[in-house]
Amino acid sequence: MSVIQVHDKKFETFLSEDVIQKRIAELAIEIARDYTDKKPLFIAILNGSFMFAADLFKHLQIEAEICFIKLASYKGMKSSGKVVTSIGLEEDLFGKDVIILEDIVDTGKTLHHFLPKLEHQQPRSLKIATLLHKPAATKFPLTLDYIGFSIPEKFVVGYGLDYDGLGRNIKEIYQLSS
Ligand code: XMP
Ligand code: MG
Repeated sequence: MSVIQVHDKKFETFLSEDVIQKRIAELAIEIARDYTDKKPLFIAILNGSFMFAADLFKHLQIEAEICFIKLASYKGMKSSGKVVTSIGLEEDLFGKDVIILEDIVDTGKTLHHFLPKLEHQQPRSLKIATLLHKPAATKFPLTLDYIGFSIPEKFVVGYGLDYDGLGRNIKEIYQLSS
């Protein structure tokens, strides 16, 4: 087991590069099977999902499109809580088979708030593929259609995921040492 330091915290090996890549190849096969002749549009959510999106897309053996968006959260003017808006979604989703790509679903809050905005555009179908899921942390109702790994409720870094900006370039995924 190897230990790395990111900022002030220590992280230990959790998912190896090989394990991550094999699982992504499996997901690509599963998605290709479900979307044969559908030419799906992937929407990858930046920043965290950039590596997952690139590797999944490389493995995909069907025709497909991909675009990238960022989500911004605001404290609303009213006390009703947080509003999530997309930055950079120029595609028209009407009639398309859309698959959202996320690095990690934690509480589910981000996607739970964002999905209605996409549904409003009337895609033909809308599914979610996430590399990581923390089921014990998920409090907002959300259907996750493709899950790479279900993981414990511990902070992770690497493979696109950061701790305060650092750690995204690590090929493996590390979890916070307890
Ligand atoms: P929610 O709670 O809305 O959060 O599902 C999803 C976003 O929270 C971030 N997040 C993490 N980032 N390691 C990270 O580097 C983690 O363990 C982690 N847990 C949640 C992430 O930005 C994700 O998109
Ligand atoms: Mg993220």
